[in-house]
Amino acid sequence: MITTTGLTKVYRTHRSRGGEVTALDGVDLHVREGEVYGVIGQSGAGKSSLIRCVNLLERPTSGTVTVDGRDLTALAGRGPRAGRELRQARSRIGMVFQHFNLLSSRTVQDNVELPLEILGKSGKERSRKALELLDLVGLADKAKAYPAQLSGGQKQRVGIARALTGDPKVLLSDEATSALDPETTRSILHLLRDLNRRLGLTVLLITHEMDVVKSICDSAALMENGRIVESGTVTELLATPGSELASALFPVGGEASGDDRTVLDVTFHGDSATQPVISQLSRTYNIDISILGAAIDTVGGLQVGRMRIELPGRYEDNVVPVGFLREQGLQIDVVDREQPALVKEGAK
Ligand SMILES: Nc1ncnc2c1ncn2[C@@H]1O[C@H](COP(=O)(O)OP(=O)(O)OP(=O)(O)O)[C@@H](O)[C@H]1O
Ligand SMILES: [Mg+2]
Repeated sequence: MITTTGLTKVYRTHRSRGGEVTALDGVDLHVREGEVYGVIGQSGAGKSSLIRCVNLLERPTSGTVTVDGRDLTALAGRGPRAGRELRQARSRIGMVFQHFNLLSSRTVQDNVELPLEILGKSGKERSRKALELLDLVGLADKAKAYPAQLSGGQKQRVGIARALTGDPKVLLSDEATSALDPETTRSILHLLRDLNRRLGLTVLLITHEMDVVKSICDSAALMENGRIVESGTVTELLATPGSELASALFPVGGEASGDDRTVLDVTFHGDSATQPVISQLSRTYNIDISILGAAIDTVGGLQVGRMRIELPGRYEDNVVPVGFLREQGLQIDVVDREQPALVKEGAK
């Protein structure tokens, strides 16, 4: 539904003469129809630039953006006819903002009607559509209220209703919940998920909160320095040894008890049992295994368990037991104490 290839954005900064900031550095993104796709990354990673390039609010420096089979980059800056087509294509992309961007002098209903006014729809049609959408987001009784009379969560619901006026197939959301408290965040995420299911809406959302990805995303990508460094469905990520996103989505604590120890993260899906395998390992190789931490959680609608265990001796001394665990079909990540990141070559 959304595909970018080699998407690059270089901002030229006037102040530091000749200065350039590469915000996007060749991003290949692929969002499937009907999925909720989360992009996560630290501040400055390029997340907002990505979303603004996807709807051409920002002109990419190079690369292509295709939304619903239309190459938007090819339409940009190609004369009036292409311009009209671009505007039409963009009206089918809804956008939700962190700070709601509502007009304070207009009522809730008039805020939702605004994009329809710009499209030249009649008053009757506008008000029918606005009331229908306000009902959909649970705000039918607030149509005549002003933004100042609403809570943050209600304002964001208005923002979402307004984003839906063009019957979009795609909804883009840049940190839609980061100005909200946890409870309100949950209700807004629930609404987005609900709209995704009921309207078949494809949602691309930007966030820096792992909990957001965990509760509603089907797929996710991790951005660093303008690049996507990891991506996939949540299930694929969890099954990828050494995936940073997976360990951030599903952290388990527990420190090694001393030097000369091997710490392993054992991941299991569904109801496969780890406990018998661990005791079998202990018996077969006659080693003491300590459990440092364990957790079971639902990630992307899937039940996942993770256990952090400790074996005596260095990794080199434990190659055979680690091999044994992998042969039992368990996913094993070796945790390196010196570097908090996972030891990737050991995790193959
Ligand atoms: N209009 C602009 N002009 C110049 N540089 C910009 C502009 N917009 C963004 N940048 C720079 O591009 C880089 C990526 O910014 P971007 O806003 O995409 O990051 P982000 O991942 O959304 O961060 P945050 O989590 O803080 O919102 C940053 O170094 C930023 O300073
Ligand atoms: Mg941003």
